[in-house]
Amino acid sequence: MKPVKPMVDSSDIETAAIAPITPGDVESFHRALDVVARERKYLSFLEAPSLDQTRSFAMDRIVRGDPGFVAVVRGEVVGWCDISRHDRLIHAHRGILGMGIIPSYRGRGLGLRLINATLAQARKAGFVRVELSVHSDNARAISLYDKVGFAREGVQRDAICIDGEYRDTIMMAIVERENAAG
Ligand SMILES: CC(C)(COP(=O)(O)OP(=O)(O)OC[C@H]1O[C@@H](n2cnc3c(N)ncnc32)[C@H](O)[C@@H]1OP(=O)(O)O)[C@@H](O)C(=O)NCCC(=O)NCCS
Repeated sequence: MKPVKPMVDSSDIETAAIAPITPGDVESFHRALDVVARERKYLSFLEAPSLDQTRSFAMDRIVRGDPGFVAVVRGEVVGWCDISRHDRLIHAHRGILGMGIIPSYRGRGLGLRLINATLAQARKAGFVRVELSVHSDNARAISLYDKVGFAREGVQRDAICIDGEYRDTIMMAIVERENAAG
């Protein structure tokens, strides 16, 4: 059974704009990132990096043309999905996906819309491999990744430790050689 959702007008979800991240979104993106990080459950950091670091990370990706989308409701970023291309030449066909949605907007299909937009952009940009790692107890994220075609590649045992508790991470990837430019 899905959990009861806090009060968010369902029209907010329907009208949420899914759009490429722009420099003007960075401060709002930083706030959303910090909310999700501070839950201490899902991300690889427990609070957002500083606003300056977040800005340079986001601007770097915008300039490189890496896929990055935000979900925006009434001018505020409520979710994001991005893929960062690996730097080294032999890994440049690969990117790592990260995403998050602030709590009250989860479980209503926004994640699916965000990841579909971002993967479509990755295909256009020629990514052959999109990979991610997800905490093994994050059932909702795993279900979303399964649904859009990620395959499980392995488990890293005790890969994370939060507040003294160890957990495994699951490595997942989509591989599509046909995306490579001809
Ligand atoms: C993971 C996340 C991005 C998914 O986005 P979302 O908008 O909540 O997900 P969606 O509404 O698109 O639903 C995804 C799927 O999970 C299912 N689902 C919803 N709640 C679930 C739950 N508690 N347990 C298992 N599956 C669940 C949905 O039913 C849906 O599958 P379906 O369409 O086949 O029914 C979002 O929940 C989130 O930000 N979580 C916290 C941060 C996080 O986990 N980031 C990813 C780190 S790897």
